[in-house]
Amino acid sequence: MRGVDDVPGMEPFRAKVVEPIPFTTRAQREQALHRAHHNLFNLRADEVTIDLLTDSGTGALSAAQMAAAMLGDESYAGARSYHRFREVVENLTSYPHVLPVHQGRAAERILFSTLLRPGQITLGNTHFDTTRANVELAGGQVHDLPCPEAADLDSPYPFKGDIDLDALHRALTGPDGPRVAAIVMTLTSNGMGGQPVSMANLAETAKLCRAHGVPLFLDAARFAENAWLVTRNEPGYGDRSPREVAEEAFRLADGCTASMKKDGLVNTGGFLGLRDPDLAGRCELLLVATEGFPTYGGLAGRDLDMLAQGLIEVTDPDYLRSRAGTTAYLAELARAAGVAVVEPPGVHAVYLNAGRLLPHIPPHRFPGHALACALYLEGGIRGVECGSLYLGKEDEHGNPVVSAPWELLRLAIPRRVYSQSHIEHVGRTLARIAQHTDHLPGYRITEQAPLLRHFKSRLEPVPLHTDELPATTDSTTPPNPRPHLTATAVPPRGTSAPSL
Ligand code: F0G
Repeated sequence: MRGVDDVPGMEPFRAKVVEPIPFTTRAQREQALHRAHHNLFNLRADEVTIDLLTDSGTGALSAAQMAAAMLGDESYAGARSYHRFREVVENLTSYPHVLPVHQGRAAERILFSTLLRPGQITLGNTHFDTTRANVELAGGQVHDLPCPEAADLDSPYPFKGDIDLDALHRALTGPDGPRVAAIVMTLTSNGMGGQPVSMANLAETAKLCRAHGVPLFLDAARFAENAWLVTRNEPGYGDRSPREVAEEAFRLADGCTASMKKDGLVNTGGFLGLRDPDLAGRCELLLVATEGFPTYGGLAGRDLDMLAQGLIEVTDPDYLRSRAGTTAYLAELARAAGVAVVEPPGVHAVYLNAGRLLPHIPPHRFPGHALACALYLEGGIRGVECGSLYLGKEDEHGNPVVSAPWELLRLAIPRRVYSQSHIEHVGRTLARIAQHTDHLPGYRITEQAPLLRHFKSRLEPVPLHTDELPATTDSTTPPNPRPHLTATAVPPRGTSAPSL
């Protein structure tokens, strides 16, 4: 008989509570999409069978987290829940100052509006869009310095989340060097296909930061998934546990902002971790004014207890192996269906190369969105477009002015939620779509929101005419050297704001 450790990727849990998901007919989905003006954000969640819009706050809680919730202490100040939470975070990160917040972007707002003076710069591998927005709101500027390997979506290079160390060195020693206020390393890089940062790259970055007296912060939203990929792929880390790798990563930095809706395994919550007592004191003032007293920071006591328990569970190798296995399996099904994915797949999502699958749909007719709508109509599956609908711009006649570097569709996988048969349904649906793509229509915006148009705009399908511009964004040769892969990647200048 096989031992359980021979079953690669088997979930190390079983269900105790279940939530029904709707099985809809094609006619119902057509009606729903029409009512939603062909924008999947406008659907009611109960019109969606498999919801892969985001992995943020959408995970399932464990029995131990539910039990922890019952221990929540709702005292305004000094609650037991806070002390339990603080101890868990300090043990993991080594940061002595831990400020709870309601979600990641609150930590970003508090840190950057306290740290930055107008005109200062933050450098990073690829800032997430809320990070960029909060730097810009504080009067700062963001420069992304992804490693060169990241520009090739098909390359199997395992650490495409790395920062370009030569570019970082040049930036720190160049004319703008004195304006650099911080380095932000995003683990894993959501803007780079969910790919990880290697420990070697992080250590070199930390060294450069120390040499130039610039603080290093982690965006730790997916710190455990980053650590897992390090144990799998980085020489010298094969026999280390994800927890040890994560601790080492936090130790290399001066602090972190953390959305715990991802690797905190909770539905809401986050924290700001800091070493510098002076900076922590100044951040705490803003925390009290805008989030809550420092021992709850906008969260309930029960939230803090569930988060503390989630942070203990998330580095379990069996959990991470199974989660990474699910993502790899979905990527394999997509490839087998003839749909290219951003390689190598990370852990939180699979990014489908819609531009390559639908070459008859030009960027300003939104191939990623066309594939998103097809997936919904064919299988009740919701993903998020990461291409020109999000990043592009057209003139008043609908002619393209700015196109995204790639036309992608992100399928993000909620934690501990979907089973193998759900994932296989996604694979089968993709295979059916990929067999006949010629008839899939592009889309035109009929009503455009002034900001963040992918959320609110109304669209309609357009029959494709021969006078449409040819597609120009096959992903092997990015037209734009700064790759922004996700719907959560960087919006065009002047439109920065959270995307999801
Ligand atoms: N940093 C990263 C890398 C993220 O992916 C997100 C959110 C945040 C910060 C902001 O955290 O949502 O708690 O305020 N990403 C979600 C997504 C929205 O779908 O990728 P938040």
